[in-house]
Amino acid sequence: MKSVLITGAAKRLGAAIALEFHRAGYDVILHYRHSGTEVEVLSTGLNQERPHSAITLQGDLLQTVSLGALIERAVAFRGRLDALINNASAFYPTPLGRVTEAQWDELIGSNLRAPFFLSQAGAPYLRSTRGAIVNIGDVHAERMLKDFPVYSIAKAALHAMTRSLAKELAPDVRVNGVAPGAILWPERPMAAGEQEVVVEQIPLGRIGRPEDIARAVFYLADEAPYVTGQILSVDGGRSLFS
Ligand SMILES: NC(=O)c1ccc[n+]([C@@H]2O[C@H](COP(=O)([O-])OP(=O)(O)OC[C@H]3O[C@@H](n4cnc5c(N)ncnc54)[C@H](OP(=O)(O)O)[C@@H]3O)[C@@H](O)[C@H]2O)c1
Repeated sequence: MKSVLITGAAKRLGAAIALEFHRAGYDVILHYRHSGTEVEVLSTGLNQERPHSAITLQGDLLQTVSLGALIERAVAFRGRLDALINNASAFYPTPLGRVTEAQWDELIGSNLRAPFFLSQAGAPYLRSTRGAIVNIGDVHAERMLKDFPVYSIAKAALHAMTRSLAKELAPDVRVNGVAPGAILWPERPMAAGEQEVVVEQIPLGRIGRPEDIARAVFYLADEAPYVTGQILSVDGGRSLFS
């Protein structure tokens, strides 16, 4: 049975990705940090559908020294690892002039440093299964998001990391990315009219669904044996908008 580790899997896009892999027969390792209640509900549901098919692993991805152990615990579930999905992310504005070192560390740490060190620690196991890594980027990695410079820089570097690791880990491990457009509104409060402005810039005229991202991630991880080093935009055409 194949197994997949998904970071930040308790809710939202991470949970949708977990459901997609589980439906396809994978055993899933659900990583979370604070969302213990949500992840237990998700894991219980999956184990009711198929006994012993899901476990949860808690961890703060900013603790770089713990990332090797996280991979070891994930591998211990099934004795193998077939896919690593780097989904967890901090996301908030950091207007220039007021950026703190703590914000830099959190945004770069969760969106770039942790995916890198998880990939490095997971690589030997992924090599032995000829597995795959999928990094969840952002359409704003190419088209910087105003007032979010640190997040935008982190995601741009994550896209670069995807291409770099694809070269480093070939031919055994494929490394790709998915760049979502607007799929789920952030949990932080949004200004009046902010959502309408975003939707106006989407050629398909609406925000996407978590399943759109989950299907793209599954395709790249499992159904695309000749694709590596690519970033697939799933954004309703947002990246075409000038
Ligand atoms: N939502 C969108 O429309 C959208 C658009 C573009 C790109 N994306 C990208 O798609 C991915 C998923 O988006 P989302 O909106 O579902 O994400 P999210 O809800 O903002 O965050 C996902 C999870 O990341 C975890 N996380 C954050 N910092 C962490 C840390 N230091 N250590 C461990 N876990 C940490 C949190 O886990 P806990 O709750 O357990 O603490 C959180 O639930 C992200 O990479 C995001 O950048 C999303």
